[in-house]
Amino acid sequence: MNSFERNKIVGALLATVLFIVVVGLVADDLFQIEQPEVKGYKVEGVEEAAAETPVAVVVEGPSLASRLAGASAEKGARVFGRCAACHSVQEGGPHGIGPNLYGIVGVKVAGQADFGYSDALANYGGTWDFELLDAYIENPAETIPNNRMPFAGISRANQRADLIAYLRLLATDPVPLPEAQPVAEAEEALDFLADPEAPVEMTKPVSEEPAADSVEEITEEPADEVEPAAVAEAMTEASPLVAALRAASLERGEAAFSVCAICHSIEKGGAHKIGPNIYGVVGTAIGRQTDFSYSPALSGHGGTWSYQALDAFLTSPSEAIPGTRMPFGGIKALADRADLILYLRSRSDKPPELP
Ligand code: HEC
Ligand code: HEC
Repeated sequence: MNSFERNKIVGALLATVLFIVVVGLVADDLFQIEQPEVKGYKVEGVEEAAAETPVAVVVEGPSLASRLAGASAEKGARVFGRCAACHSVQEGGPHGIGPNLYGIVGVKVAGQADFGYSDALANYGGTWDFELLDAYIENPAETIPNNRMPFAGISRANQRADLIAYLRLLATDPVPLPEAQPVAEAEEALDFLADPEAPVEMTKPVSEEPAADSVEEITEEPADEVEPAAVAEAMTEASPLVAALRAASLERGEAAFSVCAICHSIEKGGAHKIGPNIYGVVGTAIGRQTDFSYSPALSGHGGTWSYQALDAFLTSPSEAIPGTRMPFGGIKALADRADLILYLRSRSDKPPELP
């Protein structure tokens, strides 16, 4: 048989095998695909130089370390919309079709005893370091053959970096980012140029990534304009929250806010992070900021951040507003929430009345 026919047969076989893998029925170890070890080189500053004087360097993409250094966890939170159907990210959150992903960076692969992993994932060994996560999210089926995550992968390197930057933050003690090493990488690239045997190939400049299409679908929802409202309405003297707010401490609240500060700025006019800026949030409309992309759950919720609404949200975001993308487990003690709410209230041009 000639090579063309053979290729066709191999191609057909591969397509079949891939299909079966996606369905998740194939026996372990049926096939292995070697991952290339070296994916490409990125040298700080070389991109601009290359644009003027074309140099024959294979630049498939910037190194993961430099991509992560430039990544946006906030964009990553939006990319996570593609994972959210199957994975929760709240601390202690439930497993869905896939396991909970809180604190996934740096932990053992298939490390959660109460999730039923495939044999492929359970026997893989190793830890979810940045490289492995990047490879897995790019192509789950190739990276860990026969694993059962029914997800095709994200081909855009920058989207993966944003996503990993986001996942990294969802931890009590985020793993440090890998160091980008421009000098070592520059040397590697030069060695590579000097090697006459090396395959030389021109590729497009890395900066030409087209605009992300998959993010757009998640970013539309505009929020409503601010509507003033009675914040303390319907709270009786007997309400435990009223008592807690009266006993609350601004200092303790400010200290407690450090947990929130990973994701929220609270200065007037401060930038959005993973979560929106929350200066002046008490007493204003839920999901009000038009330049932040809320989940549909939050932007479509309506109503005001009254003391009660905030208290319920901070007790358990996902129970108070199902579908919210705030990856936060909640604060158990009423007194702690009251401290925090008192502090949030103080961060405003016009703090609403206390009950
Ligand atoms: C359609 C459902 C689905 C989607 C979408 C999905 N996953 Fe998964 N994921 C799974 C399943 C199922 C597993 C377990 C696979 C196994 O046991 O082989 C898994 C496993 C994982 C693991 C391994 C967890 C561990 O404890 O070792 C990671 C990491 C992961 N997914 C990340 C992601 C990310 C990031 C995305 C979005 C880009 C995503 N997944 C999208 C279903 C999904
Ligand atoms: C790991 C990131 C993260 C942490 C930690 C976090 N948040 Fe959030 N927060 C978000 C995101 C993301 C949203 C938007 C949720 C959505 O769109 O569903 C949000 C939304 C909110 C909102 C609604 C804002 C609005 O404009 O309607 C409030 C209020 C809020 N968070 C308060 C807090 C407080 C207080 C804490 C600390 C106890 C906290 N958050 C911790 C990410 C976080």
